[in-house]
Amino acid sequence: MTFWAIVVAAGSGSRFGAPKHTAIIAGRPLWELASAILSEAGAASVVVVGEVAGGVAGGARRRDSVAAGLAEIPLDVEFVLVHDAARPLATVDLALRVASRIGEGDADAVIPGIEVTDAIKHLDPGGRVVSVDRAPLRAVQTPQGFRAASLRAAHEAVDGDAADDAELIEQWGGTVVMIDGEPSNLKITYEGDLAVAEVLLGAR
Ligand code: CTP
Ligand code: MG
Repeated sequence: MTFWAIVVAAGSGSRFGAPKHTAIIAGRPLWELASAILSEAGAASVVVVGEVAGGVAGGARRRDSVAAGLAEIPLDVEFVLVHDAARPLATVDLALRVASRIGEGDADAVIPGIEVTDAIKHLDPGGRVVSVDRAPLRAVQTPQGFRAASLRAAHEAVDGDAADDAELIEQWGGTVVMIDGEPSNLKITYEGDLAVAEVLLGAR
């Protein structure tokens, strides 16, 4: 199947302390590592959203940056993978599995998820701690795959912010399928995550 890809590399990096898309791991910026994963998995084209050479301008929220990328993709493209520049450790195999599953054509979205290993508690606004059964919970990653028409429709139909595009698909009423993610697909959120990522990449 043919697919295009969007790498979102805008945002302020408030927890990181600076915009992080140009942070370096193994001698290469995050956005370039993330983009290379999609290219190697066979993306017909990769649209990078952010302040990089050849990139398109991002928006205030992640969903706005995805929308800016989506606007660059021809209307006849059937499938799109959306990936965070902040996840430079996703493997080509994961991108291939996402692409292959969305290519089956029966889902609006395909997302990688992994089991949660920490004990999980709900913290009430009043400070009361309530344990949560973690067995059915999954931590969700990118790349995420979409039927492009569904992604466009969900973005159009749903107002408000969302943690990821799959949430927009859910609210729009589409079908979201989960496949196995990768425990090593770390998201660079804090500055200290860079050193961990460097070690993980070096170990491959
Ligand atoms: N992102 C984006 N545009 C935004 C916000 C986020 O393109 N307006 C991208 C980031 O570049 C990152 C991914 O979405 O690759 C996940 O976002 P996150 O890790 O939350 O990055 P920031 O929003 O920049 O960081 P923070 O939430 O700490 O401010
Ligand atoms: Mg953010």
